[in-house]
Amino acid sequence: MVTITLIKDPDHTQRQLFDDWAGVLAADGRHQFGPDHTAHSADELREMSHSTDRRRVTWAAVDPQGTVVGAAALVMPQHDNRSQGLLIVIVHPDHRRRGVGTALLEHVESAAHDHGRTVLLAETQWPVGVRDESGEHFAARHGYAGAQTVLRSSLSLPADRRRLDAVLTADDADGYLVRTCWDGIPEAWLAGRAELSRRMSTDIPTGDLQLEEERWDVERVRADYERIAAMGRRVIDAFALHEESGELVGYTQVQVPQAHPEVAFQQDTLVLREHRGHGLGLRMKAAGTVALMEGSPATTSVRTWNADDNAPMLAVNHALGFVHDGMMREWQKVVAP
Ligand SMILES: CC(C)(COP(=O)(O)OP(=O)(O)OC[C@H]1O[C@@H](n2cnc3c(N)ncnc32)[C@H](O)[C@@H]1OP(=O)(O)O)[C@@H](O)C(=O)NCCC(=O)NCCS
Repeated sequence: MVTITLIKDPDHTQRQLFDDWAGVLAADGRHQFGPDHTAHSADELREMSHSTDRRRVTWAAVDPQGTVVGAAALVMPQHDNRSQGLLIVIVHPDHRRRGVGTALLEHVESAAHDHGRTVLLAETQWPVGVRDESGEHFAARHGYAGAQTVLRSSLSLPADRRRLDAVLTADDADGYLVRTCWDGIPEAWLAGRAELSRRMSTDIPTGDLQLEEERWDVERVRADYERIAAMGRRVIDAFALHEESGELVGYTQVQVPQAHPEVAFQQDTLVLREHRGHGLGLRMKAAGTVALMEGSPATTSVRTWNADDNAPMLAVNHALGFVHDGMMREWQKVVAP
C-alpha cells in the first residue's frame, strides 16, 4: 500500500522528499482553512528539524507511484517532559480513508514506545462554524481523549490606534513599566526571561494535559532566539517590569515570518500570578501590537491560540479587537512504558 520512509537528511539527499512532506501539511491547511491556513513553510520546518529543544523524527508515507500521500512526525521535548511525545499524523486530503493515517499512527506510536515516550499528544484543527470531519473520529477511534480545547483568534492590522493608545496611557498600572524589543533582548534580561518561561509552564490553564514544569536557563533562552532567527522570523517581545524590584513580571511575544510577513504569530503571554490585576496583559499586548504596526507595515493580521477556559486572556484579546476564527483540540493518550 504505502511505504513509510524515515527522513534523516532533510537538507540534502532527501530535500525533495522533505518538501513534499511539508506539502502535505500545507495541503491539509488549505483543505481546512483555505488560503488563510497557518501551516509552516518547508524551510521553517527544515529549520525546526534541527532544534535542540525538541527533537523531531519525521516520516513520509509514499504510495507505489512515488507520491507522498501522508506526513508524520514525533516531537520529543529534550529539557523536560521527557515522557511526552507530540504525534503529527496528516494524510493528503486526496488520499484519505484508505488506511494511510492508521498505518502512520501505528508507526509513530511504535517509535514513541521505543523512545520511552508514554504521554502521547496530538492536535486537530478546524474553522469556526464547521465540524472537524476527520481528526476527531480518528483520534477517538485510536484511544485518544480530548484534553484541552483551544480557540484561534485573529486581529486585523492596522488595528485601531486610538484604542491602543488609550490602553497605553491609562494610569491603572502604576508601579510597572512596559517595554518592547525587536529581535532579541538585553543580556541583563535573559535570566528574568528564563524564569518567565518556566512560569509559563506552571501558571497557565492546561486542561487535562499531563505536563511537567519546564526547565529554563539563560542558555535555553539564547538558543530559542537563535532558532527563531534561523527560521527566518523577526520577533517582538513586550515586557512588564516591576519598577520597585526591577524584575520582569510579564511578557508576550509576536513572531513575523520574513518570507510571508502578512500573518504574524502571537506566542506566549504571561503575567506572573502575583502581579495580575493591573491590566498588564492588555498593556503588553497593546504595546506589542503598536510595535508590530510600526515595524512591520506589511503585516495585516496577528493570529493567536488560547485555551477556551482562559477567560482573562480571551477578554484581553477581545478588548484589542481579536476575532475568534478557528478551533484546535489537544488529544492525549497515556500508554504503558
Ligand atoms: C485524521 C487523518 C489522519 C485520517 O487519515 P486517513 O488516512 O483518512 O485514516 P484511515 O483511512 O486510516 O482511517 C481510520 C479511521 O479513522 C476514522 N475516520 C477518518 N476520517 C474520518 C471521517 N472523515 N469521518 C469519520 N471517521 C473518520 C474512521 O474510523 C476510519 O476508519 P474507517 O475508514 O474504517 O471508517 C486525516 O483525515 C487527516 O490528515 N486529517 C487532518 C489532520 C488530523 O486531524 N490528524 C489527526 C491528529 S490525531
